[in-house]
Amino acid sequence: MVEPLKKHSFIQKRRGPVVLCIMDGVGYGKYETGDAVKAAMTETLDELAASCPKTALKAHGVAVGLPSDDDMGNSEVGHNAIGCGRVFAQGAKLVGKSIDSGRMFEGETWQKLMNNAKDNDGTLHFIGLLSDGNVHSHVDHLKAMIVKAKEGGVKTVRIHALLDGRDVGEMSALDFFDPTEAFLADISDDNFSARIASGGGRMQITMDRYQANWSIVEKGWATHVLGEGELFASAHEAIVSLRERTEAIDQDLPPFVIADEGVPVGTIEDGDSVILFNFRGDRALEITNAFEAGDEFDKFDRIRVPKVEYAGMMEYDGDLHVPAQYLVTPPAIDRTMAEYLVATGVKQYSISETQKFGHVTYFFNGNKTGKFSEELETYVEVPSDVVPFEQRPAMKCADIADKVIETIQGGEYELIKLNFPNGDMVGHTGVFQAVVCSMEAMDLSIGRIKKAVQEAGGVLILSADHGNSDDMLEHNKKGDLVIKENGKPRAKTSHSLNPVPCIIYDADYKGDYSETLVEGLGISSLAATTINLLGYEAPEDYDKSVLQKK
Ligand code: 3PG
Ligand code: CO
Repeated sequence: MVEPLKKHSFIQKRRGPVVLCIMDGVGYGKYETGDAVKAAMTETLDELAASCPKTALKAHGVAVGLPSDDDMGNSEVGHNAIGCGRVFAQGAKLVGKSIDSGRMFEGETWQKLMNNAKDNDGTLHFIGLLSDGNVHSHVDHLKAMIVKAKEGGVKTVRIHALLDGRDVGEMSALDFFDPTEAFLADISDDNFSARIASGGGRMQITMDRYQANWSIVEKGWATHVLGEGELFASAHEAIVSLRERTEAIDQDLPPFVIADEGVPVGTIEDGDSVILFNFRGDRALEITNAFEAGDEFDKFDRIRVPKVEYAGMMEYDGDLHVPAQYLVTPPAIDRTMAEYLVATGVKQYSISETQKFGHVTYFFNGNKTGKFSEELETYVEVPSDVVPFEQRPAMKCADIADKVIETIQGGEYELIKLNFPNGDMVGHTGVFQAVVCSMEAMDLSIGRIKKAVQEAGGVLILSADHGNSDDMLEHNKKGDLVIKENGKPRAKTSHSLNPVPCIIYDADYKGDYSETLVEGLGISSLAATTINLLGYEAPEDYDKSVLQKK
């Protein structure tokens, strides 16, 4: 248990609560075109930005523990940084290191999976997102593992590859699938066969999160394990022909199975080994559960449950120890803000809708499931719509705002943490008009929350985990729009590299800190800032607060 926090030397606790509002995927855009935040009518945000202390916080690359500043931020690393007050080397970096140093391949889990496949004359399967997005996975990790599997004497490798188009260009799948199929053909010989066996868009199969829609995982199971679905001769052929027929963007492409003369080339069978090569936990937990659970599994009928050795790229849940076997140990994130506040007796309320509920709880607390204290913490999940978000762009922001306002008025909680998924979940659809709508709906909700904060004499901190809605059109390196064959600009579905706002609306400002905020910091500074506004000194090794003496 950590030590309780000490009273702040110059910042006094306010009458009302501190409300930390994460506007998921809302950054400061740098282009005139394609910035849905700027294009939206956001009266409250504009007014607060004009009248309150504010700064921009870094939310990508090394500032959030990613390998380089070419890596865009994401919600896992973003919420880790915000909730934990420091920056830890994250999954993308740890896996890269483990592969480069060879440690992964010396480990017991890797050896066990290789031996299992060899002893049973079985197949080694890889399931995961095929791109260089570096949010859930990286194609280079997959390639390195296939090379090692061949060296280690495995005879058959099959890949179950998901199209990304969400952390990379919306129609970039062939940039990853074609070279991968070429690489697999190249590495295959008389004693070694490696092929893509199945696939589909990541929002269609396998990668559901927070139990929002288990039918996505069911479809993935049917595709990868049972080999059920439309048959094609190669992934290239599948993608080209499904694109033609459905006009779906990559993340929504229907599932496909690769077959030779009507026989799927890579169903998952008894005696095989399976590696889920995604390193991030949220979208890896459900499919892992489908592989690991016994007869008690009741999410869907698995029809056939092969006896396999299963491993995840990482431990996806450090508390529940899921999966049982994994290749890389996750970052040891300790002494999070919530833990300190519990030790100090501060009551906390966390809320979002399903799509980001785990972000504001599990990711926020350093990928920890469950609370530090049942008495002091409340978690509220508002069920998300199960429809494409461009069809319901407001999402559940009004419902979240209702609950936040009720909680502010109730006066019981000192800290309220909330996540509005709008900028991110609608941003990922690439539908500009929907994102504009979404921002306006969120702004209305923020306006209502601001009023409640004002009445209660509290503080509202507006910030974000990374950008997305601020950058909705692809630009080339020179900064020009990328134009598609039909003459329209190409939508951008992935996160941006932009910094995010940090706006502090302090209803009863007492002049106890400078209204000029410290510049040049990253989102990990939000923890110390929040703790300060609750009237406490942040732990010494936390990244610096944006608040300073007058
Ligand atoms: C997703 O999982 O939806 C994207 O890959 C990343 O989005 P998030 O980091 O905002 O959750
Ligand atoms: Co996102």
